[in-house]
Amino acid sequence: MSPFALTRILPEDATGAALRADVLHGLTGTPKTLPPKWFYDARGSALFEQITELPEYYPTRAEREILITRSGEIARAAGARTLVELGSGSSDKTRHLLDALTDLRLYVPVDVSESALTLAGRALVAERPALAVHALIADFTAPLTLPRSPGPRLLAFLGGTIGNLLPAERAEFYAAVRALLSPGDALLLGTDLVKDEGVLVRAYDDAAGVTAAFNKNVLTVVDRELGADFDPGAFDHVALWDADNEWIEMRLRSRRAQTVKVPALDLAVHFAAGEELRTEVSAKFREEGVRTELAAAGLELTHWWTDTEGRFALSLSVVG
Ligand code: AVJ
Repeated sequence: MSPFALTRILPEDATGAALRADVLHGLTGTPKTLPPKWFYDARGSALFEQITELPEYYPTRAEREILITRSGEIARAAGARTLVELGSGSSDKTRHLLDALTDLRLYVPVDVSESALTLAGRALVAERPALAVHALIADFTAPLTLPRSPGPRLLAFLGGTIGNLLPAERAEFYAAVRALLSPGDALLLGTDLVKDEGVLVRAYDDAAGVTAAFNKNVLTVVDRELGADFDPGAFDHVALWDADNEWIEMRLRSRRAQTVKVPALDLAVHFAAGEELRTEVSAKFREEGVRTELAAAGLELTHWWTDTEGRFALSLSVVG
């Protein structure tokens, strides 16, 4: 069996400290916000998996279609000997890329979930004798150093998760990605695209209410981790399209005036009736916007592939 290594970059106790800082900052600011990364405890991750199978939620299927049809082209264009994947999760869709990258020697999945990394990494090395896997437990929004790895490198950031970053955060992220890459390396980026407002809103407000449960789950995370007394039933799920910013926002709207205690922060937070807490921004993109933002970081977009319905794009960019 080929080697599997696991390196922890994210300190064990970093999560608690980061959650406290984010909740304190987010619930004392105006408007109130919580960052989307706190959706993903075990229940939230399972709910997200369910979302990806909903009839209204097209991005996962659209991206998988592109990976299935274009992995050969992507592999030839990148010629990578190392694949780094940010937010690899189960590495499910990545298998198409791994199969197509004929010169691949090292796969570096990066995720905050140690259990997902171990499960996926061990399965991969068992199946692929020529492939080494060096998994990194790390938060992709924090500075990252890569293990020694043969070039050319392909850095993949799939799923449209880039849409969770605000424009200034995206600029920072692209600059950090550029700093990890050398001439000859490439970035493979998944971006959900601007489209009909009804289609977009339904993708974030499904008929079965799975996205509503996913959204409210962030309150149960804060309850469990910080001893808060949020009642998820006292909030309504809201999904709206911000046409100026071209992003979907998810919010939780307080059904009544209420005060929520967060003992770990020694905090009491008042919500007016109808007051909204922003829990996620999911930006949607156009080719020219992606090209311009990448160029500002020194990355040159060379390929743009969409699914047949033009809903989602994978782009390949090289160090300019
Ligand atoms: C995992 C960030 C790509 O923005 O579409 C799904 C998360 N939120 N439904 C997205 C999500 C509500 C998803 N990403």
